[in-house]
Amino acid sequence: MGSHAHPVGITKGPSMRRILLSIPHMGGNEETYVRQAFATNWLSTVGSNIIAFEDDFQKRIGLPAAALSSGTAAIHLGLRLLGVGPNDEVFCPTLTFAASCNPVRYLGAECVFLDSDYATWNLDPNILEDALRRRALRNQLPRALVVVHLYGQCADMDPILSICQRYDVPVLEDAAEALAATYRNRPAGTLGSVGVFSFNGNKIITTTSGGMLASADAVWVEKARFWSQQARDPGLAYEHSELGYNYRMSNVLAGIGRGQLEVLDLRVRQRRAIAFRYRDAFADLPGISLMPQVAYGLHTNWLSCFLIDEGEFGRSRDQLIRALDEANVESRPVWKPMHLQPLYAGCEHYGGDVAEDLFRRGICLPSSSSLSAEDQLHVVNAVRAAAGMHELDELGQPATVQSERMAQAGD
Ligand SMILES: Cc1ncc(COP(=O)(O)O)c(C=O)c1O
Repeated sequence: MGSHAHPVGITKGPSMRRILLSIPHMGGNEETYVRQAFATNWLSTVGSNIIAFEDDFQKRIGLPAAALSSGTAAIHLGLRLLGVGPNDEVFCPTLTFAASCNPVRYLGAECVFLDSDYATWNLDPNILEDALRRRALRNQLPRALVVVHLYGQCADMDPILSICQRYDVPVLEDAAEALAATYRNRPAGTLGSVGVFSFNGNKIITTTSGGMLASADAVWVEKARFWSQQARDPGLAYEHSELGYNYRMSNVLAGIGRGQLEVLDLRVRQRRAIAFRYRDAFADLPGISLMPQVAYGLHTNWLSCFLIDEGEFGRSRDQLIRALDEANVESRPVWKPMHLQPLYAGCEHYGGDVAEDLFRRGICLPSSSSLSAEDQLHVVNAVRAAAGMHELDELGQPATVQSERMAQAGD
């Protein structure tokens, strides 16, 4: 095979540059805002970048928002705003990252896990309805529901919100993975009582580490801001009536956030293009399918996720991850369900084994918005080689056909 068709050989050894799952991608203006923080010496959790970042974010999603040190901190404060406390229970989809539900434990409450559906990979509204009906009969309704929008796609919020309204259960939207996704033309994270976002280094935009809490209730947002700065009462003395945290975003990092927000729409287009390029390049492979793209909203495809049918594909998901690793490509299983985690052993779990199946068969492929066409072709061909299929050239044609063409042309 000609090196022209394979700028990055898939059989090269471990010294080759590794293609990572999702890396930061700066837009260009971040350093200008960060320099402003240095120039004015506002190198703390106070300053004009924080104010501007919150304002820009508020304009973007249409709700007041508080900039925090992480998405996890935002979930912690959000659950506290919803009144979650010791001995309460909180419903949460089992298919998620641990940060969706760990804050439930921070508050001394316990998690109850719910299964996903295949159509969205998110919380199954039917299972939610059944679980709430059964809990109502026992007079044991949860204090809140955390609903998660996985990998850039919203859960089916209309039925979820109407069921929760019927049982008077407030909803926290964990939109950590779904900034810029929409549900029926409304932004992810603006539909429940509280919405939470993450700017962790692997997210669609990043502040290296950071998060945002949003709510239609401006008093709640102000309360979250107050708690995030140690809940110091007004006045000269350091007096505290409430328990606070050190959860505020730094003014330096908010500068990165301002620059990143300017390129968010471009990042969405880039992430979606990557997902669809994979889908098209695997169109002739049996047993590998892109995560569903539900018609009710915009899926940002923060991560390009696929399901592997071992029988048809010829390799298991784990075998594919190992083959990619050998080709210096980082990939990852879909989240391991929370009800299978040792930490959450013994928690109640409603539903079947959809989340377990998605976990067993699901894989996340490199999805950085900065992923070059050349590097993506390397990933594509590593997947194709694992499936025993011919490789593609940069035009999406079988690579062997191209080398034959080049040979004929005397190239
Ligand atoms: C679904 C989900 N929830 C919460 C978080 C926590 O966000 P952070 O890393 O900013 O604390 C993440 C990502 O890290 C996530 O993927």
